[in-house]
Amino acid sequence: MSNKQLQASTDLFIRQFKWPRIVAVASVIAMCIFCIGVSRPDRTVPLPPGPRPAHKSSGSLPQGFSGLTHLLHWPLTPGDGGDLLASTSPQTSTYHLRSPAQTSYALGGYLEAIIIARDHQGRPKAHGGDLFRAQLLGPDLKAGVPGDITDLENGTYLLTLPLLWAGKARVRVRLIHSSEAVGVLRGIWRDQWATVDFTGYFRGPTGYEETVTCNVNPLLIGEEEGTCHYRDEDSGELWFCARPPTLPCDSLVGHSSGRYWNVTTPHEEALLARNVTNKTLPQGIPPIWVAQENNRSLVLSPPQPCHPGIPAPRPSGFYHQNVWHSLSCSGRSFSTADSILGCLAGRVVHMMGDSTLRQWWEYLRDAVPALKPVDLHATYHTGPLMAVDTARAIVLHWRAHGWPLRSLRTPVAALHSVVRELGGLAGGPHTVVVLSLGAHFTTFPPSIFVQRLAGVRAAVAALLAREPRTLVVIKLANTGYKSVYGSDWFTLQVNRLLRAAFADLRVAFVDAWEMTSSLALPDSVHPGRCVVRNEVDFLLSHVCPT
Ligand SMILES: *[C@@H]1O[C@H](CO)[C@@H](O)[C@H](O)[C@H]1NC(C)=O
Ligand SMILES: *[C@@H]1O[C@H](CO)[C@@H](O)[C@H](O)[C@H]1NC(C)=O
Ligand SMILES: *[C@@H]1O[C@H](CO)[C@@H](O)[C@H](O)[C@H]1NC(C)=O
Ligand SMILES: *[C@@H]1O[C@H](CO)[C@@H](O)[C@H](O)[C@H]1NC(C)=O
Ligand SMILES: *[C@@H]1O[C@H](CO)[C@@H](O)[C@H](O)[C@H]1NC(C)=O
Repeated sequence: MSNKQLQASTDLFIRQFKWPRIVAVASVIAMCIFCIGVSRPDRTVPLPPGPRPAHKSSGSLPQGFSGLTHLLHWPLTPGDGGDLLASTSPQTSTYHLRSPAQTSYALGGYLEAIIIARDHQGRPKAHGGDLFRAQLLGPDLKAGVPGDITDLENGTYLLTLPLLWAGKARVRVRLIHSSEAVGVLRGIWRDQWATVDFTGYFRGPTGYEETVTCNVNPLLIGEEEGTCHYRDEDSGELWFCARPPTLPCDSLVGHSSGRYWNVTTPHEEALLARNVTNKTLPQGIPPIWVAQENNRSLVLSPPQPCHPGIPAPRPSGFYHQNVWHSLSCSGRSFSTADSILGCLAGRVVHMMGDSTLRQWWEYLRDAVPALKPVDLHATYHTGPLMAVDTARAIVLHWRAHGWPLRSLRTPVAALHSVVRELGGLAGGPHTVVVLSLGAHFTTFPPSIFVQRLAGVRAAVAALLAREPRTLVVIKLANTGYKSVYGSDWFTLQVNRLLRAAFADLRVAFVDAWEMTSSLALPDSVHPGRCVVRNEVDFLLSHVCPT
């Protein structure tokens, strides 16, 4: 990062904080005020008594706040009084069909079921807030679709499963987190300024190095005077490191993840323990049979070609024979290297984000031998990575989004903010931009992600304004994590923010949440080749819709 872009200063955090100008995200910004305003000092990391980033001067909580509360709504969980046995149990909770079982069901119809949450002693719960995930699976057909779950907020949940293929299907319901465990996660988002920290590496002229702690909030680091502040000129994004013992602030050269903090009490840890997390409920519905309809064995994708701005139904698609069938547009399959090359010819694809998007880049590199990786920087797992086919004028870029990236040590100069990268693109009919943000933001209050999204949204809007023919694709975050640092519950919320931030822009979404939660595969934040192939096929369906 050049000195122009990386400006070390000792200005106060408050003075540096620039509200993004985007009105549409203003409501979301209000959350920043709220979160930071009500934060209490971290339990395990001593905080200096100095000033809080008080936004009292900004006066009232803006009216937009209610919009964000609505967006992130989750039923409140009354405390469990410290009694683990009173939390929701995957062993005693059950589900059953809402109406009598039929010998066969109609393709295109729905199966409805009721989930009844109970505690470890078998007592029905009286409130909602549990995070269940359900699927309808057709293992013989390699088919699957996520179920939609409505919290009736009285300890029961309505489960709706669309019947999209003919043949055998079975229901699987998992308790991901009890409502009490969700309460712990919610409390962490409300009360902690961060659950991880980072390491900054400073280097002097002789090669001598000093390492310190860095983070998104100066108050997590130390006294105001003892902090180095970094502000990205293009995006306004802020970053803070403790002042190194002898080296100056502008000698920051390296970045890596740091420690995962202990932010839970033993009771909270028990609520999030493996033995109660991500557990399948006892089978409540025998396998069902879905009959063919007019000799059709599948619900078909709508005939319209894929393009940005199509509102996505829920679910947005399903798998059949391990192929994702979109329900928003007519997705295509790119099963050969030639079909991929034909689609990408003459295009430059800019992928920016996290490692789940790097999987797309790696998939294309591996599936298409003609795409030659240019491995100059491959030693850094933050990229940038590039693969090219000079004969067909294809360039495929991937680079990690900037701070607060959890990574192995990487040069700070190679960590570019997405906003800066977007600002450097001319765009046009040959430019494809793919963004994936979220997984590295679950370790901070949502305000941090909201701030970041506001900047990225503005940069995407500006890109589309100067070149409306640019294709912008937003990859939502994957299911997989089950801990206090990253969890499906955080991811669910992060995806709500992503959708809201880009809702009124002409972008395409790849619903990776659904695509990583529809098959009978183990949850993994880095899904296997089958899922990645389908995600990339859906991307290519937007690049080459016909
Ligand atoms: C829960 O709420 C739903 C919807 O209001 C209602 O139909 C159902 O009877 C309630 N169940 C219990 C156990 O209170
Ligand atoms: C985390 O901190 C709590 C006290 O706040 C302590 O009881 C617990 O043992 C700690 N856990 C670990 C893994 O260090
Ligand atoms: C789960 O494990 C914790 C210890 O990690 C234990 O206290 C608790 O009783 C266990 N719960 C169940 C339901 O087995
Ligand atoms: C149903 O489709 C199969 C092939 O897909 C065909 O052989 C058969 O004649 C069709 N039956 C009817 C009733 O259309
Ligand atoms: C969650 O549970 C499912 C089904 O029991 C299992 O396949 C999967 O590996 C589990 N995932 C995690 C992250 O524990």
